[in-house]
Amino acid sequence: MSSDEMKKAAAAAALEEVRPGMRLGLGTGSTASWFVRLLAEKVRDGLDVVGVPTSEATDRLARELGIRIISLDDVAGLDLTVDGADEFDPDLNLVKGGGAALLREKIVAADSRRMIVITDESKEVEALGAFPLPIEVVTFGATATVRAIADAARRSGLSGGISFRQDGSGNRLVTDQGNWLVDASFRRISDPKALALALNRIPGVVEHGLFIDMASTVIVAGRSGIRRIDRQTI
Ligand code: 5RP
Repeated sequence: MSSDEMKKAAAAAALEEVRPGMRLGLGTGSTASWFVRLLAEKVRDGLDVVGVPTSEATDRLARELGIRIISLDDVAGLDLTVDGADEFDPDLNLVKGGGAALLREKIVAADSRRMIVITDESKEVEALGAFPLPIEVVTFGATATVRAIADAARRSGLSGGISFRQDGSGNRLVTDQGNWLVDASFRRISDPKALALALNRIPGVVEHGLFIDMASTVIVAGRSGIRRIDRQTI
C-alpha cells in the first residue's frame, strides 16, 4: 500500500462510524480530505449529514462535493470530528497544525462528542516532538511572543529552533484566522501536558498544536492493515 492508499484506508474505516443525521467536524490535510471525498460519495447516495469544516480549504472541497456545510454557531455541539494528525503518542496525544489549521481544528474537536484521528503508520511516535510543533501567534509583538515561547520551553527543559512558517512566496504564512504560525523544533517533548499548559499562559499565543486528551480513537493504516486504538483501551 502506498502512503496515499493508507490514508484512504484509514478514512474509509472512520466513515463506518458515521450515522445518518450526524453533525460532523471535517478535518484538514491530505488524510482528512480522503474522508471528505468518501463522505461525499455517501452523501450523493442519500446519506443525510451536515459538516463543519476546519479550514477554508476543507470548506471549499466539501461544498464542491455537495456536503451540506453549517457553522459551528448553528448547532449545540457536534457528534463526531474526523481529522488527521502529524504525530500521535501512546497516550493518543497529538501534534497537529502541519496544514496550518490547528486553531479551527482544536475549536471544532473541542466541541465534538468524539474525535477520530485518521493516520498512516508514519505518524505513530513514542514521544511527540520530532515533527516541529506548530504554534499560532498574534502578529502584534510576534517576536516578543517567540521569546516568551523559547523561555517557557527552556523552563520545561526544551530547546530548539523556532521559526516563522512561510508561504509559497516567502512571506510569513497567514492562517485562516489572520495570525502567523511558528514551528518549534523541540525534537522530543517528554511532558506534552506541561508544555501545553505553559504555552497556554503566553498572551501572544493563540493556540498550539498539542492536542492533549482530545482524541477518542486513532485509526492507523499500515502495510499490515488497519489498527484501531481507543482511548478507553489504553
Ligand atoms: C492540519 C493538520 C493535519 O491534520 C495534519 O497536518 C496531517 O496532515 P496530512 O493528513 O496531510 O498528513 O493538522 O493543520
